[in-house]
Amino acid sequence: MPFPIHRSRRLRQTPSIRRMVRETALSIDDLIAPLFVCEGREVQESISAMPGICRFSIDNIIKETRELGSLGVPAVILFGIPDKKDPRGSEAYNPDGIVQRAIRDIKAALPDMVVITDVCIDEYTDHGHCGLVEGDKILNDPTLELLAEMARTHADAGADIVAPSDMMDGRVRSIRQALDQSNHVDTIIMSYAAKYASAFYGPFREAADSVPKFGDRKSYQMDPGNSDEALREVRQDIEEGADIVMVKPALPCLDIIRRVRDEFDVPLAAYNVSGEYSMVHAASEKGWIEGETAMMEILLSIKRAGAKMILTYFAKDAARVLNR
Ligand code: PBG
Repeated sequence: MPFPIHRSRRLRQTPSIRRMVRETALSIDDLIAPLFVCEGREVQESISAMPGICRFSIDNIIKETRELGSLGVPAVILFGIPDKKDPRGSEAYNPDGIVQRAIRDIKAALPDMVVITDVCIDEYTDHGHCGLVEGDKILNDPTLELLAEMARTHADAGADIVAPSDMMDGRVRSIRQALDQSNHVDTIIMSYAAKYASAFYGPFREAADSVPKFGDRKSYQMDPGNSDEALREVRQDIEEGADIVMVKPALPCLDIIRRVRDEFDVPLAAYNVSGEYSMVHAASEKGWIEGETAMMEILLSIKRAGAKMILTYFAKDAARVLNR
């Protein structure tokens, strides 16, 4: 026998051959663009830790969403930056709050754009936590009502998908109930099912002004050491009525994405979070990595790990590459 019989390099000889045998393809259909919406008019405020990402007032959010739509991006997820914060996060479930108005205006201007909303009160509370606070405790059950009310007002405004990111136990069930009781049986729930307490959310907290004023989020977000627990979280959210489940963050959790994909048959999303975005930009600005190639490799790896949908600040840039 001549050595070697199998030569893996045969299938790597030309771009066309590589294209034929490539197992994973990233599509524009997979991309979901996170957007930060704030009060005012003609506001476009850059976020220093996230080059290329801005806070937009509603008029500019519509422009941005239109551009994303014309590139073929099917969905956006909205994060609200209210003018007023209080201990109960009242603006989160104000029927005329910033996100509720943004949803109405986007759906009126661009009915085909899928509008997802982040359901969590941390951007709206003065203490910056995702639940109601008593002393140094984050309360679970009293928070559920507020989340359900927030989701209902989003659905009333026309949101297609509500995405709870708070990590309170039982929130999917209470949101599903509230939606069904208010005639929103078709509103989809995408739950941040396995969401870890991660250092990679740092730049987002600057963008959304949601740094907790005391303590951290470790009593509600998952411990990065755990993997079996992610399956329990996902199973519970599916049982409570989640239509789509999410793993977050993405890059430090590619193994979790794969385990969830192997174990469950519901549509799976992953959140390529702010810190993952900022890292690529920082290293690329220093000339240490090639930013665009790194971006595409990261998104492909998330898809290969098993996620169908990817929430990513790279959505616009990646869509441009995919449109080439
Ligand atoms: C909570 C929420 C956070 C992110 C999405 N939803 C922040 C947090 O849990 O502290 C982080 C997203 C990112 O880092 O890109 N509303």
